[in-house]
Amino acid sequence: MDLYDAAKPLLFRLPPETAHGIVHGGLAAVQDTPVASALAQRYAVDDDRLAVTAFGERFPNPVGVAAGFDKNAEAPGALASLGFGHVEVGGVTAEPQDGNPRPRMFRLGDDEALVNRMGLNNEGAAVVGERLAATDVGVPLGVNVAKTERVDGGDAPADYREAYEQVADGGDFFVVNVSCPNSKGFRELQNRDSMEAILGELVDAGASPLLVKLSPDLPEPAVADALEVVNDLDLDGVVATNTTTDRPASLRSPEAAEDGGLSGEPIENEATRMVQFVAERVDVPVIGVGGVSSAEGTYRKIRAGASLVQLYTGLVYEGPTLAREINEGLVDLLAEDGVDSVEDAVGADL
Ligand SMILES: Cc1cc2nc3c(=O)[nH]c(=O)nc-3n(C[C@H](O)[C@H](O)[C@H](O)COP(=O)(O)O)c2cc1C
Repeated sequence: MDLYDAAKPLLFRLPPETAHGIVHGGLAAVQDTPVASALAQRYAVDDDRLAVTAFGERFPNPVGVAAGFDKNAEAPGALASLGFGHVEVGGVTAEPQDGNPRPRMFRLGDDEALVNRMGLNNEGAAVVGERLAATDVGVPLGVNVAKTERVDGGDAPADYREAYEQVADGGDFFVVNVSCPNSKGFRELQNRDSMEAILGELVDAGASPLLVKLSPDLPEPAVADALEVVNDLDLDGVVATNTTTDRPASLRSPEAAEDGGLSGEPIENEATRMVQFVAERVDVPVIGVGGVSSAEGTYRKIRAGASLVQLYTGLVYEGPTLAREINEGLVDLLAEDGVDSVEDAVGADL
């Protein structure tokens, strides 16, 4: 039996944020130790068919860790040793902030989902930037940059720039988060004028490769507007999607009533639809996120137009073998379809 199968019932008896802290702390503790090398030998799937080149970076496989799992960049190397092909750390803000009061993360056990209203708790870009400077991950590292909660919308461009400049040397790509449902005045930043101002400021600061992460709750015309900004400013990619404030009727867990963003299995199909909507409208790589927990689901997002995928909630429910399972499964799915590589499968359903 896998170690996580044994640990999961115990972890699931703890409040979700406590359980996350234990797993995350364990990962941070083994980073840069022989344990991490041993994990890498066990979990990394080394197969050229899985490799993807996107925005000038070579990813050894398409499966990455989504933002929020390692907010302060304490364990990116350990996550890479679990077989992930990239890690997105953050969100980080220019100033350190505590986030919302606990409890702020809820397990929807019957739905393989989470609801969170963390509120962008993080140690601040200066601390994260210093940590990244001392970190060698071995796979591309993305940094998710967000707005400090107390900063008003009009000052948002300068605030994003300040955060970016402190992590600039530590990231291989940068994701602008304008889609967090849990921080005041945040998702309003997705209107065309705000996006132009924020993203324009970051382009001006030299942020590259620069991607933007969108909410699944944006109506289609607003997504289309946002994508015009992506095209106009020559951004390097789009991350689709963040969590949703929507609550599908299928949810069975009482925790569904909690305020916050829903992630996991119930958002999978909607996220895949949004990947397709985005991929039809931009020529740059799309990172597909939302409810990924299997090779089949990963393959669906890739065929819908995602060059890379990310996951968070799947890791909670499936455990640390997930990247390996997905990568091994992808090789089989490619072979079944007679497709030579992941890159050849990107957008096959478009
Ligand atoms: C507890 C938690 C914290 C998160 N924090 C962030 C964040 O700081 N920035 C961000 O862009 N997304 C954040 N996310 C969203 C994830 O990156 C991802 O977009 C979302 O959870 C959907 O993927 P999943 O279904 O695989 O979890 C967070 C998600 C969770 C569950």
